[in-house]
Amino acid sequence: MSEKYVLITDESTGKDLRLPVVEGTEGEPTLAIKALPSTLGYFTYDPGFSATAACTSRLTFIDGGKGILRYRGYPIEQLAGQSSFLEVAYLLLNGELPSEEEFSGFSEQITHHTMVHEQLNHFIAGFHYDAHPMAMMAGVVGSLAAFYHDRMDMENPEHRMLAAQRMIAKMPTIAAACYRHHMGRPTAYPRNSLGFCGRFLDMMFSVPAEKYEVSPLAARVIDLLFILHADHEQNASTSTVRLVGSTGANPYACVAAGISALWGPAHGGANEAVLDMLSEIGDISNVPAYIKRAKDKSDPFRLMGFGHRVYKNYDPRATIIRKACYDVLDEMGVDDPMMDLAMELERIALEDDYFIEKKLYPNVDFYSGIIYRALGIPVSMFTVMFAIARTVGWVAQWLEQSKEPTRIGRPRQVYSGPTARDYVPMEKRS
Ligand code: CMC
Repeated sequence: MSEKYVLITDESTGKDLRLPVVEGTEGEPTLAIKALPSTLGYFTYDPGFSATAACTSRLTFIDGGKGILRYRGYPIEQLAGQSSFLEVAYLLLNGELPSEEEFSGFSEQITHHTMVHEQLNHFIAGFHYDAHPMAMMAGVVGSLAAFYHDRMDMENPEHRMLAAQRMIAKMPTIAAACYRHHMGRPTAYPRNSLGFCGRFLDMMFSVPAEKYEVSPLAARVIDLLFILHADHEQNASTSTVRLVGSTGANPYACVAAGISALWGPAHGGANEAVLDMLSEIGDISNVPAYIKRAKDKSDPFRLMGFGHRVYKNYDPRATIIRKACYDVLDEMGVDDPMMDLAMELERIALEDDYFIEKKLYPNVDFYSGIIYRALGIPVSMFTVMFAIARTVGWVAQWLEQSKEPTRIGRPRQVYSGPTARDYVPMEKRS
């Protein structure tokens, strides 16, 4: 903690309090407000936690004004251009980039845990064929706790790391199994001779009757998207994982809670919502009408894939994905009218005063769906793709939290209900 303080005065009582300033290695200074209730008798009110830091973390740094994102200090542009998803996973989990030997040990460990207990496939088979894959994912990942709970010693760092690696390894297997159940295809087991993303594509699309060749382009692009989605500091799903984790709950249950939080259209569900929105807009000629709707306060419609709580500048992930989007469509020879529509929407929105004043820029989800679509990933699986990647961030944040003395997360409220009143027996109620 620094030696800086901020003095606050309660004008009604004249009482003062010096609040210590907490400074990280980068980013805005924050006020440690713990003494506020006991000294001045106030709690703080911050719905949506826009002004509240809930933890310290060494994983990911965002400067929303400058459009900067770094994992463990490394700029996202460098990781996207030179690293791989598994290497990024190692970095987020362990804090440093791996040596060759460390990386090969880590890759082996992840590959070794790709299979799921056969009973889990029976569990998946119990879902109705048209269940949303995110609903299945939340249920199935939560159920992993039932397979490993008794043998897991939460105090043992090796057990915690094993749980983290198991989740990273099994997530693509579960995701593909959910998709295959929906499609009525037989279970595909992981082919461990393939890389992380190639194996996932194989489990998604291979059929027993025909030979399936993984497209190197598709595997490469998915790897890139997974790097971009791997972590994003204390977003809603990560905060959910940490909140559930603060109770000492089983890590699989924590990640299942994170998956549920991610599903919402304001968060990871936006990539699916973007495609739904583009389909609804349908034609470039309809774009101005939808921009008008997005600006109309009496209309709940929002431009999906636009805006961000932290970025008040172009989302650096969106810049990378936008370029990848062009490259992929070009390399695959795909002429997707959705891309033209998206470009027109982006162009008009970026010139519009409403979006300029509110600093609403395209976010990561604006383009990811268009790439996934070109690669043949069905729309209902878009948020699942996000979940596979973000599992790395969730478990890395959970590992970080588990190493430190953690108090249970327990926000306060401003009560606005009735004040004390007496119970009235039913026959006397008017
Ligand atoms: N379209 C139209 N207006 C918007 C939009 C939008 N997409 N986003 C924000 N606004 C307006 C909002 O109405 C508000 O206006 P006013 O100040 O007049 O009331 C102002 O901009 C600030 O918005 P907010 O809702 O207070 O901002 P927030 O930080 O609470 O919400 C957000 C951030 C991402 C939930 C929101 O921008 C949004 O709903 N965007 C669309 C959904 C989306 O793309 N989500 C993916 C986020 S990136 C992936 C991830 O990391 O999860």
